[in-house]
Amino acid sequence: MTALKNDRFLRALLKQPVDVTPVWMMRQAGRYLPEYRASRAKAGDFMSLCMNPAFACEVTLQPLERYPLDAAILFSDILTVPDAMGLGLYFETGEGPRFRKTVTTLADIEALPIPDPQKDLGYVMDAVSTIRRELNGRVPLIGFAGSPWTLATYMVEGGSSKDFRKSKAMLYDNPHAMHLLLDKLAQSVTAYLNGQILAGAQAVQIFDSWGGSLSAAAYQEFSLAYMRKIVNGLIREHDGRKVPVILFTKGGGMWLESIADAGADALGLDWTCDIGEARRRVGSKVALQGNMDPTVLYANPNAIRQEVSNILASYGSGTGHVFNLGHGITPEVDPANAGAFIEAVHEMSAKYHQ
Ligand code: CP3
Repeated sequence: MTALKNDRFLRALLKQPVDVTPVWMMRQAGRYLPEYRASRAKAGDFMSLCMNPAFACEVTLQPLERYPLDAAILFSDILTVPDAMGLGLYFETGEGPRFRKTVTTLADIEALPIPDPQKDLGYVMDAVSTIRRELNGRVPLIGFAGSPWTLATYMVEGGSSKDFRKSKAMLYDNPHAMHLLLDKLAQSVTAYLNGQILAGAQAVQIFDSWGGSLSAAAYQEFSLAYMRKIVNGLIREHDGRKVPVILFTKGGGMWLESIADAGADALGLDWTCDIGEARRRVGSKVALQGNMDPTVLYANPNAIRQEVSNILASYGSGTGHVFNLGHGITPEVDPANAGAFIEAVHEMSAKYHQ
């Protein structure tokens, strides 16, 4: 394998010294980039981009051509796993994800298969190896999956939801059924992430986008317990290097201590918590990733620089910080503002690493 030319993202996750704070953006390959919209038009639709390794590679690299980002993230979606379990994923323009089949009864859950990464998700494994080859050691490649709870909400609701009416009703009416579903998803996600690691992913992130919708007790039992199970089953070293694991629970700021105990190397933070305070609470155990409010990118470059400066000052000196947004970049952002953000992180962080 080609040696990594820029490994500051992996080093910061493992709390090794870095020259400047590394930065990447959730959803960095996406609709705010005109070149992404052109590739999507050429492919036909979003799923065709994901399912064709050449297209998935092309759009993964687009943000790296524009900006000096410190990591690439596989272009795919968390919902490929339920799709491979037979639910039939599709995207209605402007409506978000939908499933042809939903999961409503214990019998539906018992019938769900655990997908084989090579056979059932081979297009993702091919995308990972293609991207690694094309990156040629420029920066590390991040693989990812959804958390069992977050995937379960989409499978039970049949798509996105504001209130998680059906999935939460199942959790309280039939906890046994929900636990069986979550256990199957934990097994599926473990195999899927290990497949990505063997194909070349150099770090992995678990997106628990909807863990923050749960009560404190339900979060422990129905979300965190299954992420812990996944972390325990992951390949943690490959090709002579550690493969760091990042857990991102949106809305998880109140539970950082218990998330930090789940065995991951780093926690992703949304923008509702202060990163300095988070460091004081869990910084001896894990690295931290985040956490600028993505809507700051609608403001002018001076305001963006000020916010970057505040977050860097709040984290303070030393390694263990990967700069990111607190959630994905949105389609309406001006690409020039994303550039100002990334430049500000590198330029203003050097003094914290002397
Ligand atoms: O970060 C990256 O650049 C990697 C690519 C990535 C996508 N989805 C591409 C995508 C990643 C990491 C995801 C994760 C994902 N997908 C999550 C977890 C992260 C989060 O945002 O909380 C969730 C909940 C999904 C499910 C999903 N996929 C939704 C709800 C939507 C529609 C929302 C929207 O923005 O319209 C998608 C579609 C999707 N996934 C797009 C992209 C670039 C937009 C598709 C398009 O081009 O129209």
